[in-house]
Order: sequence, then structure tokens, then C-alpha cells
Amino acid sequence: MKKNILISCDHGGFYLKEQIVEYLLKKSFKIIDLGPKDPSSVDYPDYSNILVDKMRKNIDYIGILLCGTGIGMSIASNRHSHIRAALCSDKDMARLSRQHNDANVLVIGGRTTSLNSAKKIIDVFLSTEFEKGRHIKRLKKIS
Ligand code: RB5
Repeated sequence: MKKNILISCDHGGFYLKEQIVEYLLKKSFKIIDLGPKDPSSVDYPDYSNILVDKMRKNIDYIGILLCGTGIGMSIASNRHSHIRAALCSDKDMARLSRQHNDANVLVIGGRTTSLNSAKKIIDVFLSTEFEKGRHIKRLKKIS
């Protein structure tokens, strides 16, 4: 799977985002942190849109979005037809979101997910391939 990663969040996901960036840098991924740079209160659609716009210009990127629950970031990013964002709370959801849905954005709840769990989710998401086959026609029906 492509390994160039964009990451963004709101204040609800800020601290977990910082830890995820550190984790992925240690694993030698190319990761671009789109902010915010501090935990001040921001509006999640603004930071979703920054990542969504970058992915519109470069479909090779994988995105990671975080907010408090992950729900706001999921709703906002999935408004855009080039985004298939999956809110994952465990590694099985991460695996299936890649195998069946070809998810290109992983969404994590910053207030609902431990760092340990987030690491497992991310590892699976980044290492699982889309199964294609019967899933292709279903994705075509969405787009
Ligand atoms: C911010 O307080 C919170 O509403 C946001 O992070 C997110 O959980 C929204 O879905």
C-alpha cells in the first residue's frame, strides 16, 4: 500500500495526533502534519478540508484524521467523492475498511482510543491491501 501519509485533527484529537506522528516517523513513514500545531479549540471541518484538498491534488496519499470521537471528521470528509473515510475503533475494522472499502482515510477518535489501540489500528490499516473483486462494483455504485 502507498505509504505517504497526511494527518490532521481538531483539538479533540490533538494529543493523540502528536503521538501518532512520532510513532510513524520512528517507523520511517513519510508523514505530513497538516496541523493544528497546538491544542487550541478549532473547528473540525476546517482541518478536514485541508487534508481533503491535498488528497484531491494527490491521490497517492493516505489520510489520517482525528477529532474527539472521529464522527465529525468522518461526516465532513466523506462529503467529498474522492474520500473513503473509515472511522475505526479496532484492528478488525481497520482491516475490513481496507479489504472491502478501499478506505483512503483512517479516522480515529482522540478521546475514545488509547495510543496502544491506535498503533494497532494504524499498523493494520497501512499494511492491508484492497481485495478488489466483488468490492469494485460496490465502490463504483458509491462514486
Ligand atoms: C470537539 O469538542 C468535538 O465535538 C469534536 O472533536 C468531535 O468529537 C466532533 O465530532
